[in-house]
Amino acid sequence: MDKIAMPTKVLSASAWVAIERPHRWGGLIGCIQDDGNAERGFILGYEGEHFSFGLSTSGADDGDGRLTYLRGGTPFVPGRWHHVAATFDGSRMRLYVDGQLDAESTDQSGQVIYDPAAPFVIGSYRDSNEDYVLDGRLLSVRLEQEAWTAKAVRSAFQKQAALTKFEPWTDTVFGFLVEPYLTWPTQKAMSVLFETTLPSTASIRVRRDSDPEESAVEFPLVDSNSLHECRLTGLDPDQKYFYRVVAHSNDEMSVESPLLSFRTAASPGKAFTFVVIGDTQTQGDVAKRVSDLAWMHRPNLVVHAGDLVDTGTSKRDWTDVFFPSMQPLIGRVPLMPVLGNHEQDARHYYDYMSLPEPERWYSFRFGDAEFFMIDGNRSLADQSAQLSWLKGALSASRAKWRFAVLHQPPYTSDSNDYGDTTMGSSLRGDPNVRNIIGLLERFGVDICFSGHVHDYERTFPIREEEVRAYEDGGVIYVTAAGGGGHLEDFDPTNTWFGHKKARYHHLVYVAIHGDHLEFQAIDQHGKLFDVLALEKRRRGKSRR
Ligand SMILES: [Fe+2]
Ligand SMILES: [Fe+2]
Repeated sequence: MDKIAMPTKVLSASAWVAIERPHRWGGLIGCIQDDGNAERGFILGYEGEHFSFGLSTSGADDGDGRLTYLRGGTPFVPGRWHHVAATFDGSRMRLYVDGQLDAESTDQSGQVIYDPAAPFVIGSYRDSNEDYVLDGRLLSVRLEQEAWTAKAVRSAFQKQAALTKFEPWTDTVFGFLVEPYLTWPTQKAMSVLFETTLPSTASIRVRRDSDPEESAVEFPLVDSNSLHECRLTGLDPDQKYFYRVVAHSNDEMSVESPLLSFRTAASPGKAFTFVVIGDTQTQGDVAKRVSDLAWMHRPNLVVHAGDLVDTGTSKRDWTDVFFPSMQPLIGRVPLMPVLGNHEQDARHYYDYMSLPEPERWYSFRFGDAEFFMIDGNRSLADQSAQLSWLKGALSASRAKWRFAVLHQPPYTSDSNDYGDTTMGSSLRGDPNVRNIIGLLERFGVDICFSGHVHDYERTFPIREEEVRAYEDGGVIYVTAAGGGGHLEDFDPTNTWFGHKKARYHHLVYVAIHGDHLEFQAIDQHGKLFDVLALEKRRRGKSRR
């Protein structure tokens, strides 16, 4: 459509719509551009389970346009017909749902401004870098260069109000939206989580591998939710268990997982292995290759260094990219992550993870190791709550091996995240997380794992801003951010601490047995490109 025909002074838009699966953003009718450079146009659409009306006008223009998203207060019912209408009379935006005023704003005034390149679209929220297609049905979409009155909107609704009497209908098939996966392993407990496409009740049957099927213990999940979280307790240490999830929808459809298995956390003195993966993010196919490679190793534990997804607030990034790419690994091996910046501290992270309190940071024991899981997005300044916790947790630790895990690297030879190294200097690491270095050295942390910079790096052991032998209390910093995000590069000149570097998608594999630690870095195709062995006994008394 020619942009000249788009309404400018006043406008009204409406649609009859039945949305089947809500998205973070959705569009019914509009002509929009919304990115860092421009906010122009209008859109009648939805955000999650609420309708919304986005508009940019001359009165609110800050130079490159500014959009107001007026969000309705009434959630829509998936699969049910709703009438939604947006009006703008030159000074007031109004949003109506089923003939009733649902929200209004005077934030915008004057003429509607458009981006000349923006397409006019029905049935999607689409601009130059987004395209969220409607999953649902649309009927009688209208756009007019006039501002309808409340009465006119009500009468438009009433003409076809019979549509709202239809039973909500979707073609959503009952099944697992997210297959069962494991988190938070201890010697006596394990968390199982899964999500079904529709609300369900469920149960999990659990038994030791050597016990007969009849002896399985059943953990019931009686609340009708889509996302279920179950803490399996009363388990034995370092023991293999079988488990199976069965879920029932409200209308008596059911879905059953295959017979799955896990092993509880190793007791002190027992050997175990773990993998570290970071920044799985955008490329699901790469993340799947890395995760399948991890699975091939049959580790006891998966540690994730953050940036699990690309957009933490986007549910589809979790359900359609992260979880499918991490199976079958996390259906059998528990996952323990830290928050990356791309998680955006979104609710989805806390909903999908079952972790020790307060979840955003925590520590846990596994065999002879203790892991200190840090949120590098939150303050680690001297008086911060997190740094106080870290100090207390490290000083109380009796574990032989100590690992810190956080998304942002304290030391990195990266090319441009902390200064442009082709043209100038770099901070060589994240200024906020730098404040943990003294604690890691003081409390004898062996390896600090990070993500964020999409490549692989293992530093020389570092103590007091100098390269010092590991045996002398030096801490080794490993960036393992090759899980799927687009690769980054290194400073063209080596840093004072820079040791092994690799620009591959990869994982890190670690095996611990008593005083011995074996460490390998392996690329997505299985090629071993870095190895390290540490002997605990030879490490001198660190300054505890
Ligand atoms: Fe990342
Ligand atoms: Fe990141």
